[in-house]
Amino acid sequence: NEEYELLRNTVLEQGRVLGDDVLKVDSFLNHQLDVRVLNAIGKLFYQQFGALEIDKILTAEVSGIAIAAIAAQYFQVPVVFAKKTLSKNLDPDTWEGSVYSYTKQQTYQIRVAKRYLGKGEKILILDDFLANGQAIKGMHQILEESEAVLMGTGVVIEKSFQAGKEMLRDQGVEVHSLIKVTSLEGQQIQLREK
Ligand code: G4P
Ligand code: NA
Ligand code: NA
Repeated sequence: NEEYELLRNTVLEQGRVLGDDVLKVDSFLNHQLDVRVLNAIGKLFYQQFGALEIDKILTAEVSGIAIAAIAAQYFQVPVVFAKKTLSKNLDPDTWEGSVYSYTKQQTYQIRVAKRYLGKGEKILILDDFLANGQAIKGMHQILEESEAVLMGTGVVIEKSFQAGKEMLRDQGVEVHSLIKVTSLEGQQIQLREK
């Protein structure tokens, strides 16, 4: 459809490959934001998950926020984003999840204040990238701690050749990806078309 075409063409035209496994999309998603493309992303998530009864969208700062906020206009629910740093702005009483960063080779905590996530709340998780699946795993951990209910998990770009998709599937979690990148070898962006 129209939204998928816009997203797909933007990824192919503006995406830049670093090395063999990193796709830079900072002209529209990770640094500069193209709101028209973000809006298409929001609509695509709504097309996929709109039939579910959802109370809240959960994402992680920084890059998840823009996507989740625009999608939330269609779902008409609040967005809560997990924080990566402790600050005065964060209640001391939090749910925590741990995220292993392959690039930094260390584990860090992501946190959501208990007042914004509670038992029985129906949650849709949205994020920008699925690579090793660590961020999503950390958000699932937060849901488990809070006894909120996972209704679905969606990402904008999945790198199908990395371990995250399978790792999450092994844990019983299906991730719906808007764009599936099957290879970045030779600086070529290969997509699995739907
Ligand atoms: P993962 O396990 O969460 O899948 O990611 P990983 O640790 O492999 O990657 C760390 C960060 O890099 C994550 O963002 C992830 O979204 C992002 N990332 C992974 N692969 C790519 C890629 O090919 N292209 C781009 N543009 N990003 C990628 P983060 O640290 O949570 O950063 P942010 O949300 O603050 O931007
Ligand atoms: Na991210
Ligand atoms: Na990112």
